[in-house]
Amino acid sequence: MKFKEKLKKEIKKQIKQDVFLRDTPSPEFGDYALFLKNPDKKIKSILIERTEVKGNYLNIFINKKKFIEETLKEINLDYGKSNLGKNKTIVIDFSAPNIAKPFSVGHLRSTVIGNSLHKLYSELGYKVIGVNHLGDWGTQFGKLIVAYKRWGNEKKLEEDPIKYLLSLYVKFHAETEKDKLLEDEARNEFRKLEKGDKESVRLWKKFKDLSLEEFENIYSLMKIKFDSYNGEAFYKDMLDDVINKIKQKTKTESSDGALIVNLKQYDMPPLIIKKSNESTSYHTRDIAAALYRLKNYKPERIIYVVGSEQKLHFRQLFKTLELMGEDSKKFVHVDFGLFRFPEGKMSTRKGRVVFLEDVLDKAITTIEKIITKKNPNIGNRKEVAQMVGIGAIIFGDLSNNRVNNINFDWDRMLSFEGETGPYIQYTHARIYSILKKSKLSAKIDYNKFNDEEFQLIKKMSEFPEVIKDSAIKYKPNLLCNYLIQLSQLFNTYYTKYEIKLSKERLYLASKIKQILSTGLNLLGIESPNAM
Ligand code: ARG
Repeated sequence: MKFKEKLKKEIKKQIKQDVFLRDTPSPEFGDYALFLKNPDKKIKSILIERTEVKGNYLNIFINKKKFIEETLKEINLDYGKSNLGKNKTIVIDFSAPNIAKPFSVGHLRSTVIGNSLHKLYSELGYKVIGVNHLGDWGTQFGKLIVAYKRWGNEKKLEEDPIKYLLSLYVKFHAETEKDKLLEDEARNEFRKLEKGDKESVRLWKKFKDLSLEEFENIYSLMKIKFDSYNGEAFYKDMLDDVINKIKQKTKTESSDGALIVNLKQYDMPPLIIKKSNESTSYHTRDIAAALYRLKNYKPERIIYVVGSEQKLHFRQLFKTLELMGEDSKKFVHVDFGLFRFPEGKMSTRKGRVVFLEDVLDKAITTIEKIITKKNPNIGNRKEVAQMVGIGAIIFGDLSNNRVNNINFDWDRMLSFEGETGPYIQYTHARIYSILKKSKLSAKIDYNKFNDEEFQLIKKMSEFPEVIKDSAIKYKPNLLCNYLIQLSQLFNTYYTKYEIKLSKERLYLASKIKQILSTGLNLLGIESPNAM
């Protein structure tokens, strides 16, 4: 990276124009190509071995020894870090499960993608605020309170809170088929909750605390942390002010008793600020949250990591914020497709859900079986199985272009071969085991690296650029692809050469190991030393 920057600077000084170094299709065209009107310019630099003119291109063959030395020396714990985001803040809204409902696979995707973006932006020097915008407010709590008051049982609730609350929710929907008045009762209950009725608030808080405890199990298993848990309920006392502000700054209308922002001229249905029964909406709370974040964190951007099914919601939200005078470039919806399980389509209302904890458990136990076979004497088997099982799920998610739907394929995802998390972790552990048995030397002869190694080091030099790209395009899959390619290159190299016989090869391997573990960490995946 630094080498390329230096090279660019030197060339720029000599030809007195901006320099864009392109990658070449293959080594015979040099290492970089420079497009020029008069490509037969003479450029001299210790960084360049020779140049060749091909049409309008000047093909540059770099000084390999210099490149190898500079690149390898640059690779340490901080390799990939930059100060691009210095003094800038980014808010990432991610995970955001709904209280009293199971942590869904959609929430898993948001959690995994958001967590990786959190790490990637931090690596670029941004101050990152990860917010878990919990779904802890809204009419569904009216339904739950009704169901709990009618059919609930405290002991059962505490035994298995989310499954029990889900069963109450399912029962509520089944009963409304027979008793239409239940829906009105639920709306009333929610209104009571909004007004601060003591018993309603007590029940709501209980549901919330119990649900959060369960969510925490998942977060701690995946080692995921948030900087704020300000969910929807956090904004409830700001809503009157916010609604006044929306009224002042946009032309609101009333429509069938509801208060709306008309978005017809932007080809969108209206944004509902207040429903006809006076309750506030998901949208209003999102407007409140956006204004709160802008005011308190002064972010350059707020990124919402939420499934594609909410595209319209965010278009409406961002348009309304723009109408209120905010800069719409500050808001980004990072959307993603569905994760489809072989078990079939899910529906919370019907109680058909895949419980995420079961998915994680299955991944961990399957991996544990594989490890036990492959490496029966491994010491911390349980711990490693957890790192690899969870890593497999995370990588199986992140390695896809996020907007695509993914079919959840257990065998493919958990395999130690192919384009998987375990494959990269395995490559890392393999290098660890080679290094453990040998001694690293500080005296490296940079003339000793052959052409194959030079190509490998070129790949290694791309790492900082890949991190930047993955963050800026909100595409952790770019980093996933890169780590797969690097692992494949290393494994080919490994089968061809006895690494332990040369201090240069050992040194090279140790640098690859560094990149793999930094890269995996940026995806939210751990790198065990053996597996
Ligand atoms: N709780 C919501 C859901 O499960 C996601 C919230 C996303 N964040 C936001 N600011 N709207 O659908």
